[in-house]
Amino acid sequence: MAIKIGLLGFGTVASGIPFLLKENGDKITAAAKDEFVIAKVLVKDDDEKNRLLAAGHDYHFVTNVDDIVKDPEIDIVVELMGRIEPAKTFITKALEAGKHVVSANKDLIATHGKDIIGLAKDKGLAFYYEAAVAGGIPVLRTLANSLTSDKVTRILGVLNGTSNFMMTKMVDEGWTYEDALKTAQELGYAESDPTNDVEGIDAAYKAVILSQFGFGMTIDFEDVSHQGISTITPDDVAVAQELGYVIKLVGDVRETDSGISAQVSPTFLPKEHPLASVNGVMNAVFVESIGIGESMYYGPGAGQKPTATSVVADIIRIGRRIVDGNVGKSFNEFSRPTQLANPADVKSGYYFSLTVPDKKGQILRLAEIFNGEDVSFSQVLQQRGDGQKAQIVIVTHALSLTQLENVKAKLKAQSDFTLLNSFKVLGD
Ligand code: HSE
Repeated sequence: MAIKIGLLGFGTVASGIPFLLKENGDKITAAAKDEFVIAKVLVKDDDEKNRLLAAGHDYHFVTNVDDIVKDPEIDIVVELMGRIEPAKTFITKALEAGKHVVSANKDLIATHGKDIIGLAKDKGLAFYYEAAVAGGIPVLRTLANSLTSDKVTRILGVLNGTSNFMMTKMVDEGWTYEDALKTAQELGYAESDPTNDVEGIDAAYKAVILSQFGFGMTIDFEDVSHQGISTITPDDVAVAQELGYVIKLVGDVRETDSGISAQVSPTFLPKEHPLASVNGVMNAVFVESIGIGESMYYGPGAGQKPTATSVVADIIRIGRRIVDGNVGKSFNEFSRPTQLANPADVKSGYYFSLTVPDKKGQILRLAEIFNGEDVSFSQVLQQRGDGQKAQIVIVTHALSLTQLENVKAKLKAQSDFTLLNSFKVLGD
């Protein structure tokens, strides 16, 4: 008897599932020891249903979620609607009705995952979400299974394809932020409201999930500091290049002596760092660990077939466990009490770009401020001034978040200094 699936939503990713079930059916059936059938598909309303039927999609479309969650024949519910509601209500209903659930919904898992994972565990059901982080890159299962013997110390990731596409255009072709966003929207990468992608929110959701798989700790979304790419200027891009770096939006989750920290921020990557060559809409997750050392997982972070491939892998895993009679194991079994790092323990190099009066003594004033916080310069660059103002760029050796805040406060307290930007620098 086939394993029956109820799909919630029939957008880009969901419509890639039938392709895989058809084109790779033999392998999928052999892996699961059973066949899969898409029994019902939830759509928004009759208009959507009629449009999909007219387009040749021959499924049993329903407009009420109860037709799926109350159907005793359906084993697995696959949620691909995105965002928080109604996805949260529908997944909860499905688990309460005893269905296993697959989702790609990073927003929901990062913000309400604890409750949903807890409910699935209480009910002895599977809740899998490989596609929620970096779409087509099988990184969550790799961390949960293949790296189980290893101790992860840091995860760095280019986790948002939209902002990476934009940064690649800004770095390689000198585009402005506005031009890059307009093209990203025209190509369908960025939504009309691009906030989640460009402000680092989407990447921060992924960092939350990576913290669970890499470090066994569930960091709250509110505890992930996130800064997007909207403040990066062509000048920052040019200076980064001059100093031997590439700027990218990078998610950074690491364990210090006092706990874990998670940040998403524009980051200066040394040109030779493997993440520096991750371009366009591609994603990559770079893992530092005590066993393997350094490893990088690279691929498409979005898109119909890549994301559906991860979703179908979850479906197969659940199907096989149903057949073998051992379904219900947690997706990630690594769990420790969550301990947040003390800001004094979270250290990186930093880039500061500022304008100062174009007269003597300014470097000395800056040196006094940085030296007063025990921060050491790694590189200093002064652009020729206009008689009124001069631009100075400073790259520091590693300083803590506490020192960073103190330095910034002191710079801002100088009424004739203007701090234009400050970004993290990897490797200094
Ligand atoms: N909007 C995301 C990105 C893809 O641009 O990477 C889904 O997480």
